[in-house]
Amino acid sequence: MKNMTKSMTTAADHLSIFQYRRGREYEGNRFDLSPRPERFKKYNGPCLRLKTSVYKDEGLRSVGGLTGREMLERILLPSFGVTSVKFHGHQSEMLWSFPSAGGCYPVEIYVAVRRLGEVEPGLYYYCALETSLYKLANGQAAGGLAPSLREADRDADVYFILSVVPWRTCWKYSHKGYRFGLLDAGHVAANFQLVLRALGFRFSAYTSLHSAEVGELLQLDEYEMPIAIIASRLYDPKADDPAKPSATDAPPLESPISRKCRHSEDPDIRLFDWEPILDFQRKVELSVREPSDRWLTQLSLPSEWTDYGRLLQLIIERRSSSAYTRCELAAAEFRAMLTMIFRLGLHSSFHAIVHGVEGVRPGVYRYEYGRPVCLSEGNYRETSSDICLGQAFIRDCSVLFVFSVDASHIPEDEFSRYQQCSIDGGMLGQMMYLKSQEMGLGFSIIGGYYDEELRELLQLPPTHQIVCAGAWGRNVPDAASVRKNDRYQLNRPQR
Ligand SMILES: Cc1cc2nc3c(=O)[nH]c(=O)nc-3n(C[C@H](O)[C@H](O)[C@H](O)COP(=O)(O)O)c2cc1C
Repeated sequence: MKNMTKSMTTAADHLSIFQYRRGREYEGNRFDLSPRPERFKKYNGPCLRLKTSVYKDEGLRSVGGLTGREMLERILLPSFGVTSVKFHGHQSEMLWSFPSAGGCYPVEIYVAVRRLGEVEPGLYYYCALETSLYKLANGQAAGGLAPSLREADRDADVYFILSVVPWRTCWKYSHKGYRFGLLDAGHVAANFQLVLRALGFRFSAYTSLHSAEVGELLQLDEYEMPIAIIASRLYDPKADDPAKPSATDAPPLESPISRKCRHSEDPDIRLFDWEPILDFQRKVELSVREPSDRWLTQLSLPSEWTDYGRLLQLIIERRSSSAYTRCELAAAEFRAMLTMIFRLGLHSSFHAIVHGVEGVRPGVYRYEYGRPVCLSEGNYRETSSDICLGQAFIRDCSVLFVFSVDASHIPEDEFSRYQQCSIDGGMLGQMMYLKSQEMGLGFSIIGGYYDEELRELLQLPPTHQIVCAGAWGRNVPDAASVRKNDRYQLNRPQR
C-alpha cells in the first residue's frame, strides 16, 4: 500500500483524517475514478435459510418455546434487515433497519454459535439479503473469541460480531468513510441491544476487541475489520431446557463449510491511500489490552421500547428525514428528547443549535447536566446549513444537535476510546431516530459538517472532537417522496 502521508504524532493529527475542510471535501476519494465497490459479500456453499419476515405479534410468542432458528430470526431480521425499497424512476434501492452514511452500507454481521438448540455450533456469516447463514467454521470455533471477552461472557450462547468494510464508504468519502463506518455500526449495535432486551435476553455489548485476532478467526481479508461483539445469553443457565445441549454434549453432525467467492475481490481497493487509516488502527490496536468493563459500550439503554412488537414497528418505520417543515417544536417535545439523551449517559454536555422551539430563543446552546447555557442568540438557520456542507434541508430543521468528546480527557494509552466513542455515537443516533419516530417527528443523523467551523460556532477548544450531529424537526407532509441527496448520488447510473 502506498504511503502518501507525513508521519502523524498527536491524537489530533490522527483524528484530522476524519474531518471535513472547506474546499477539500472529497480529497482522496475514488468516487469518480473507481467503480462502486460491491455492497455485499458473497459466499458459496450450503446455508441455513431463515424466514424472510417476522410478524410483530409473533415476537414474544413464548420465547422459551422457540427453536434456535426462530430465535435468530427474531433477532437478526429487525436488527440488520431490509425494511423498504425506494424507487427513483426505474431505479430502486433497498432501505434498511439502520441508517448508513450515503447509503454505502459497510457493516457486515457474523454469528458465533455455542449453544442454540438445533442450530449447529460454529461461526456463520449472515447474508441479510438472503436472510441466510453461511457456515465458516465448525464446532468449538466460537471459543476463539475468548481473548476478546471478559471471563463472564466466555460462556455466552451466541455472539453477534459486527465488522466494517471501509472501502465501501472510503470510496465515496475518503478517510472520513472509516469514521462513518463506525457510526453506521453503532446504529446496528443499538438495534441488536434493543431487540435482545425486548425478547428478554441478557447481553454484553463490546465496542472494543482484538480486531486482528477476531478477523483471523472469521477469515476476513485485511480490508475488513471486526469492531464490536454482542455476547448474548439466550437460555437461563439454571433452567433445565431440553433445547439447550450442555457444553460437553457431542456436537451434532457437522455440515460443510462455505467459502467466500473470490471474484468479489475488487482490484481498485489497492489504489486508495489506506496508510492514514492503518496508522489510526495501529494506534487503536496498541491501546487494546485485556478485556474489561471498559471494553463495553458506555451507553445505558433507554427505558423505552421493551415491548417487542412496538420496537419492531419503530425500527421498520424508521427513515432519515430529507425535508422539514419550518416550524417551532413544542417545548414538551424538546424536553422529552433532551431527557432521553441525558439518560443514555454518554454525554454530560452537548450542543443544540435551536432554530425553532416554543419558549426557547433561537441560538446556540450548550446543555450541561440538563441545564442550558446560551452561547449566542440569533437565527442560525443559514449558518447551520452552510457549516453542514451547504445541505439545504438543514435550514428547515428545528434543532441541530451536536455531540462531541473532550480528547484532553483521553490518555494516549487509551487511544481506542476514540473508536469506541464513534460506535457509541451511532448507538445514540439510533435511539434519537426511534424516539423521533415514536413522537411522529423527523430526524437524520448528520456526518457532513466542517469540523473546525462547527467547533468555532460552539465555542469548543481544539481538543474537542465532534462525534456526530443530528437534524431534528417536523417532516414535510410528503416526506417519503423527497430525494435524500447524500445517498441518491450512489444510485446514479455508473459511467
Ligand atoms: C454516519 C451517518 C452520516 C450521515 N450523514 C448524513 C448527512 O450528512 N446528510 C444527510 O442528509 N443524511 C445523512 N445520513 C443519513 C443517510 O443518508 C441515510 O441513512 C441513508 O440514506 C439511508 O436512508 P434511511 O436512513 O432512511 O434508511 C447519515 C447517516 C449516517 C449513518
